[in-house]
Amino acid sequence: MVQIAPSILSADFGNLESEIRKLDQAGADMIHIDVMDGHFVPNLTIGAPVVKSLRPHTELPFDVHLMVDNPDSMVAWFADAGADIITIHAESTPHLDRTLSFIRSLGCKAGISLTPSTPEDVLSYVLDKVDLILVMTVNPGFGGQKFIPSQLGKISRIKEMCAGRDILLEVDGGINPLTAAECIAAGANVLVAGTSIFANGDYAKNIEALR
Ligand code: DX5
Ligand code: ZN
Repeated sequence: MVQIAPSILSADFGNLESEIRKLDQAGADMIHIDVMDGHFVPNLTIGAPVVKSLRPHTELPFDVHLMVDNPDSMVAWFADAGADIITIHAESTPHLDRTLSFIRSLGCKAGISLTPSTPEDVLSYVLDKVDLILVMTVNPGFGGQKFIPSQLGKISRIKEMCAGRDILLEVDGGINPLTAAECIAAGANVLVAGTSIFANGDYAKNIEALR
């Protein structure tokens, strides 16, 4: 069963409440929230107060993707704000094991994200501490970029590494009906998409097309 996680990076930031309600009604499985700090990635988005103010408007899980340096200083803010899953980048902390355990200790599911140049080996010794693995299929920072096909092999290898474990395998970046099919074939079961879901205003149709 493939889950769809629309990224609100492509939403109308002036109307986030109604955008989230529309995604909920359109059949989204979770809401993907991209947090960027202007350092780890060359873009700046939203912080925990915005996540907190959106929390009452849907019961869908909040899938918070932290693209920030020093995530340890921020994960508690997002747990307090109502995040269900908190994903950090493997490249953003030297103490992955500790940070993942910290996220779980706050009552959230713990995710690790890999940028396109990071090999999957980094996951080897933390598989028992992780609930979600996010393979970035573009370089993080912006919506609307082109899917990087070399990541399909990485998805398949991670799928094998996770055999027998209850770990979600998520992809993010350049996901449209064509690349979605390739990612699902490789083993992904959560698809993040911004551009292709917000494209022409028919969120339900676009979500269905990805599934
Ligand atoms: C990029 C973000 C993505 C982004 C995807 O750094 O992590 O979630 O919103 O956007 P599209 O679907 O347009 O590639
Ligand atoms: Zn994302």
